[in-house]
Amino acid sequence: MLVTGGAGFIGANFVHYTLRHRPEYRICVLDKLTYAGDQASLRQVADRIRFVRGDVGDAATVDALVAESDVVVHFAAESHVDNSLHDPEPFLHSNVVGTYRLLEAVRRHGARLHHISTDEVYGDLPLTGTDRFTEETAYAPSSPYSATKAASDMLVRAWCRSYGVAATISNCANNYGPYQHVEKFIPRQITNVLTGGRARLYGTGEHVREWTHVDDHNAAVHLILSRGRVGETYLIGSGVERSNREIVETLLELLGLPRDDFDHVADRPGHDLRYSNDSTKIRTQLGWQPRYGDLRDGLAATVEWFHDNEWWWKAAKQATEERYRLLGR
Ligand code: NAD
Ligand code: TYD
Repeated sequence: MLVTGGAGFIGANFVHYTLRHRPEYRICVLDKLTYAGDQASLRQVADRIRFVRGDVGDAATVDALVAESDVVVHFAAESHVDNSLHDPEPFLHSNVVGTYRLLEAVRRHGARLHHISTDEVYGDLPLTGTDRFTEETAYAPSSPYSATKAASDMLVRAWCRSYGVAATISNCANNYGPYQHVEKFIPRQITNVLTGGRARLYGTGEHVREWTHVDDHNAAVHLILSRGRVGETYLIGSGVERSNREIVETLLELLGLPRDDFDHVADRPGHDLRYSNDSTKIRTQLGWQPRYGDLRDGLAATVEWFHDNEWWWKAAKQATEERYRLLGR
């Protein structure tokens, strides 16, 4: 199995999950080790996998690795909306060109591909109401990040239809858990507090996200690999929606601080209001069920993980906050 982006948040958790639950796989990780990739996330399993530092946009590297693989799980991407608003170019290279290179290699060598995508390709939903995205919702991405993910999904669909490539796609809601980069919402608030700073809420904080534990996401990916139908798309989401403000209040309480001990900062341009996935298809057709039902418990475990693993995030924290200072957030 070739895992692209396996030194990033979800990819590294996927490698750990696979070694725990599906030890029959032999894993090769391809990762460029951008600012978001960290080999330390794979330290405990370094002797059980092969690691190749390289770019999914590099045709020769990708071709050689896909030639040796039966299955490719494609996590590699530039993944942060704020960065995409500041400098979109790396998103075009890694997310669009990278997926194209992989598709061409998969087409040549006949490997099975699973493409990891996001619900952000569908744009956003009104703050109030019960609307949800489904596999049939029209694509309407808002940010350069989601536009490049939408483009990569379209390439996968076209390569399936025109060249018979054996691929599936999943579009998951927001993930949380261990090894998530400190630029992202939940780790940023936890590590702000742990380093003596304050939680920072964009705009009013009323924006809503659906939070799915990374292990639930990765369990769904394995179900799609073993039971999913080639050519199909599956939405993944826990069904647990919270406003950003509610998340910050819960985190502050778990960290022993007053629930209102946060700052409002400048809003993100084009900020998507609400994401919500209807995951009936993967639940009924493949039998997926999230195991992390209680978000508060999941957040408590995540706070504990960041508290206990300062060695993992400390170095990235300062550089990340420098970037946010430039953005005024
Ligand atoms: P991440 O930023 O933590 O990790 C991305 C990894 O990809 C890093 O290790 C990085 O070094 C690597 N990478 C980037 N460009 C590369 C390139 N050109 N060649 C090789 N490696 C490269 O991201 P993440 O949060 O783990 O997201 C993984 C995937 O899941 C992405 O495709 C993202 O769109 C998708 N996704 C993320 C979420 C979420 O909440 N984080 C939700 C749904 C979908
Ligand atoms: P993020 O983790 O960047 O994920 P996405 O934008 O892909 O959903 O942000 C999640 C939400 O949290 C989003 O509405 C923006 C908001 N946010 C803050 O309020 N404060 C922060 O410091 C960050 C990083 C994000």
